[in-house]
Amino acid sequence: MNQSKWLSPLFLLLFIGAVSAQQKTLQSVAPFKIGCAINPNLLVKNKDYKAVVTNEFNSITSENVLKFGTVHPKKDVYDFTKGDILVDYALANHKRIHGHCLAWHQSVPKWLSEFEGDSAAWENLLKTHIQTVLTHYKGKMTSWDVVNEAFFDNGAYRQDSVNAPHRYITLWRNHLGRDYIARAFIYAHEADPDLLLFYNDYNQESNPAKLKAIIAMVTDFKKRGIPIHGLGLQMHININTKDEGIAEAIKQSAATGLLVHIAELDIKANPKKDTSTVYSDSLKMLQGRKFAFVVEQYKKLVPKQQQYGITTWNVGDADSWIVELRKIKDWPLLFDDKYQQKSCYNSFYEALKK
Ligand code: G3I
Repeated sequence: MNQSKWLSPLFLLLFIGAVSAQQKTLQSVAPFKIGCAINPNLLVKNKDYKAVVTNEFNSITSENVLKFGTVHPKKDVYDFTKGDILVDYALANHKRIHGHCLAWHQSVPKWLSEFEGDSAAWENLLKTHIQTVLTHYKGKMTSWDVVNEAFFDNGAYRQDSVNAPHRYITLWRNHLGRDYIARAFIYAHEADPDLLLFYNDYNQESNPAKLKAIIAMVTDFKKRGIPIHGLGLQMHININTKDEGIAEAIKQSAATGLLVHIAELDIKANPKKDTSTVYSDSLKMLQGRKFAFVVEQYKKLVPKQQQYGITTWNVGDADSWIVELRKIKDWPLLFDDKYQQKSCYNSFYEALKK
């Protein structure tokens, strides 16, 4: 018998099988961009982390390296070293780059918190910071979170308050008034008119007053012709977050007509932070369902042309800010601490594919 006659179709089948197994990646099935927030240190030193980022995602967000405190550590010093590693990697691997973030109440370096000047000096500082960073990356990045977390959960503008702990207040609002938000967008647009500019915040799914305040701000910006193009719903949620709240936040954000980015998705399986909690099958199932629910609602409620994508905040459980920074026992992401796909990955993947 001529073995080559049946060997070649067999090899062909094996080859097709291998290729389709390889293609089981988030980016290959998603009808919109799928991103993650990344840390260039891990990208350089952890090959499993890098492999997952490279294979699974087609959009990346800078987790910390383009925040004010990192990129602008002294008054007259900008340090783009780490940002450049991330941007060079993303460009070489054909990934969309979303910058995070230009004006925020956190990541404030010492020199900035001690800065003294009148409102013109503060204005100049904000404008110069935004325009220097955007000019450095001109033509390389697609979008930015221009202003991050400018509202309190009750819908009030984040501001100085007698009772507010220092970490909750924003020096931008204190020195420049509420409309610093609009002006930050104008400065960003002046520096690079090709960029898509986002307002990004958290807890809209659990605080209707905050959602309402953000939508009102967007409505006002649109009336005034302020160049805003998208809304970031961070979506740091947990297995008990109410489905109706998630759907409402997505629906109302989409109704603005702006792009909608699920910008920092993670889903806590241990919301009570109980140290004795085990990552049981029932917790995994609830978490998988919630990941799928977010995808389904995003597909259903956001018109295609407004689907900017879904980004998870970090990559694997070990590098999640919840675990790594807050030291909470949890498993909030799609990959485990060895960068293997988890069961919630399958739920997320199937929902993307459906
Ligand atoms: O890398 C230094 C390390 O050298 C140093 O020894 C250590 C001591 O504190 O700090 C390390 O840096 C920390 C960094 O995370 C890396 O772990 C910073 O202190 C810490 O402030 C920083 O936290 C980041 C946090 O934002 C504040 O900037 C988290 O990584 C980051 O995931 C988190 O991201 C935010 C988004 O920007 C906005 N939305 C919420 C989200 C989660 O909090």
